[in-house]
Amino acid sequence: MNSSTLSNAVKPLAIVILAAGKGSRMRSPLPKVMHKLAGKPMINWLLDSCAALNPDKIIVVAAPDMDDVAAAAAPHDVVFQTQQNGTADAVKPALPLLAGFDGQVLILMGDEPLIPLDALRQMIAHDGLSALVFNTPHPHGLGRVLLNVDGSLQNIIEEKDCDAHQKLITLCNAGTYCVPARQLKPWLEGIGNNNAQGEYYLTDMPKIAAAQGFSTHTFTIEWTQSWGVNTRVQLAAHEAMAQNILRERHLNAGVWMQDPSTVYLWHDTKIGEHCRLEPNVYFGARVVLESGVNVKAFSHLEDAHVGANSTLGPFARLRPGAEIGEDVKIGNFVEVKKSTVGDRVKLSHFAYVGDADIGEDTNFGCGAITVNYDGFNKHRTMIGKNVMIGSNVNLIAPIEIHDGAFIAAGSTITDNAPQDALVIARSKSEVREGWAAKFRKLKNNTKEKRKAS
Ligand code: UD1
Ligand code: CA
Repeated sequence: MNSSTLSNAVKPLAIVILAAGKGSRMRSPLPKVMHKLAGKPMINWLLDSCAALNPDKIIVVAAPDMDDVAAAAAPHDVVFQTQQNGTADAVKPALPLLAGFDGQVLILMGDEPLIPLDALRQMIAHDGLSALVFNTPHPHGLGRVLLNVDGSLQNIIEEKDCDAHQKLITLCNAGTYCVPARQLKPWLEGIGNNNAQGEYYLTDMPKIAAAQGFSTHTFTIEWTQSWGVNTRVQLAAHEAMAQNILRERHLNAGVWMQDPSTVYLWHDTKIGEHCRLEPNVYFGARVVLESGVNVKAFSHLEDAHVGANSTLGPFARLRPGAEIGEDVKIGNFVEVKKSTVGDRVKLSHFAYVGDADIGEDTNFGCGAITVNYDGFNKHRTMIGKNVMIGSNVNLIAPIEIHDGAFIAAGSTITDNAPQDALVIARSKSEVREGWAAKFRKLKNNTKEKRKAS
């Protein structure tokens, strides 16, 4: 890079994000930029990255019927492109908001949500026009980049307009440009639509800038860093990239993962220091793990808060509203929903806790469940501290089990249990001495007689 083309002074920055395209290749009723990566719409991934560049303004270009895009972009300015006539046409509705703005304008494609910030910072520091490019073994469908012998950018040609020779070029256009605000309007006005698609291509801007003697420069990124989402196959590939970004973030923050590639995170997952994640753990929205939490393999967590040093799984399921205390043990095949679980509670195996509050130091036995639904309404179960719920107990809500109570195994409980009481609700067992031996003898005799006849 020629250092004379680098600007020392920090110039004001405006960012224009193009998001008005229908995204018909996605075959989806959603606008393309509303498709999510790790639970966050692509447009919001991009907006969050943009915020790190500290711009003076961000303008999102949407189509008039894209209310959800406008809502996702708030509080930033949203302007509308009434007809999708191409990427150069899409920038035009943003021009009135840039009138009198004297700085750099960074133009981003809304369908390239994971664009690396370092590259954008380099572009902003460059005077003249700059474009982001990458070399790829999969150039199909992308604009090809032509360089001059001095390495400057000569032209970008869309694949549909390439001749056979140009199609062999593997240097491709990422679709991200940085231009001086004052030149943007005249350059856009110079772009025509005499091409295979009859559209106004932003890719024609570099050759216009170069013809006017402006420096045209390319900055190169790895093709794996961002190459755009046009199809659901590319969306899935970007999801994998987003997962890797999130995994690395958590690993660098001190989380242990035995096999990070099998841990699926949500964009807002919060994991404290020294947490341990065994393979095959899935995080849905709004999960917070405080420090030292140990999540064993095959656990599924969503909208849950887990206190420090608790253990979950293997095969634990925390559903929305699970509020788990500290040093809690939630073992295999345990499901907790809309419930608070006090410190040091043990829910070691095969249990369902729904719409319940469980006090500290309580033991909730194997196979015990809260019966919270009567077919019409949900009811709450209140369990105090130091309670012992035996195995295979049904607690028919609404019900209160007070501190220190013992609920005998196999009981179906319909009445409240007072403090320190034993409640037992099962039929008594009956012992018949020698019965089994007599029964066996009788059956064997019958079998032998049948064989003999
Ligand atoms: C574009 C580039 C191509 C580049 C590729 C990188 C052009 C002509 N082509 O192609 O050189 O290699 O990106 O991914 O620029 N949009 C609008 N209004 C429109 C058309 C598009 O807002 O009228 C928006 C879309 O919502 C999308 C972005 O612009 O976010 C890019 O449009 P898309 O149709 O995906 O362009 P590509 O064919 O991928
Ligand atoms: Ca695209």
